[in-house]
Parts: sequence; structure tokens; C-alpha cells
Amino acid sequence: MKQRVLFVCLGNICRSPSAEAVFNGLVKKEGLQDSIESDSAGTSGFHAGEPADRRMQSHAQKRGYHLTSISRPIDPDLDFEKFDFIVGMDDSNVYDLQSMARDGEDMKKIYKMTDFCSKDGHFSVPDPYYGGSDGFELVLDILEDACEGLLNEMKG
Ligand code: 4NP
Repeated sequence: MKQRVLFVCLGNICRSPSAEAVFNGLVKKEGLQDSIESDSAGTSGFHAGEPADRRMQSHAQKRGYHLTSISRPIDPDLDFEKFDFIVGMDDSNVYDLQSMARDGEDMKKIYKMTDFCSKDGHFSVPDPYYGGSDGFELVLDILEDACEGLLNEMKG
């Protein structure tokens, strides 16, 4: 049966589109496209309809990731039905997701991205929007580690 993961951040223009691209790269590398798929969404609709932030796109591009997603807000009724893993980037995303969950089954699907990190020291994927280049690089560093952990978890 196909497993599905939804990556979630605030605006769906920086962190979660990058998580989707990094994760899809690993899925493709391992030839698992038929059994695992991913998407991303925002807890807010502030940037709905927009492509990923240009700064995030250019940092991702340097590592070979092409960000293709268009921002959309999460739809709790549809998304909690469709996805098996709903992964927030920071505590605030997780808190917002928990308040959207309709029941205990939904709650069990909610994770924080850094739950899957193998390297120590990161407890969230920090919002890079108002900061400099280092913040975008840090997002990618954490995501590359966490996506590997998440894929291993999904492979079981
Ligand atoms: P993201 O970054 O949640 O990683 O997409 C942000 C994008 C936009 C805003 C905040 C964070 N904003 O306040 O508009």
C-alpha cells in the first residue's frame, strides 16, 4: 500500500517545499516512487498560489534540488484522511497541526521533522524567512539528515 507524507511549515514557501524536494530526491534515488509519495502545505494561507521563496530556491538549486511546489494551506479534512505522516517543521507548526486534528487517529500522524534527525542538537527546522543566507543553508542541512531518517522509518 502506498505511504504518503505531508510536510508542513507556516508559509509553505521555504521549509516544507524544501523538505518535499529533498525527500523526493531520496525516494527517487532508491526507486521507491511507486510506494512512497509526498506533498507540502502551510498552516497559513498567507502565500497561497505562490512558488517557493527565491532565496530558498537558489540555495536548494546549489545542492541539486529543484523546488516546484506552489503554496497551499493545509486542508485538515482532506489531508488528515490522505496522509499517513504529517510532519511539522517546528513546535509552532506541530501545535497548530494538533489543534486541527479531528481525533486520536489524526493526532498519531503528527510528527516534528527533527524527530527523524540522526545528528544531535536540532529540535526544530528554524524559520529562515527573516534571516540571512546561513538560515537557508541550515534548513537544508537539517532536512537532508531528517529526510534520510524519515525514509528509513517509512521503509520499516
Ligand atoms: P516557511 O517560511 O514557513 O518555511 O515557508 C515562512 C514564509 C513566510 C512567512 C514566514 C515564514 N511570512 O511570515 O510571511
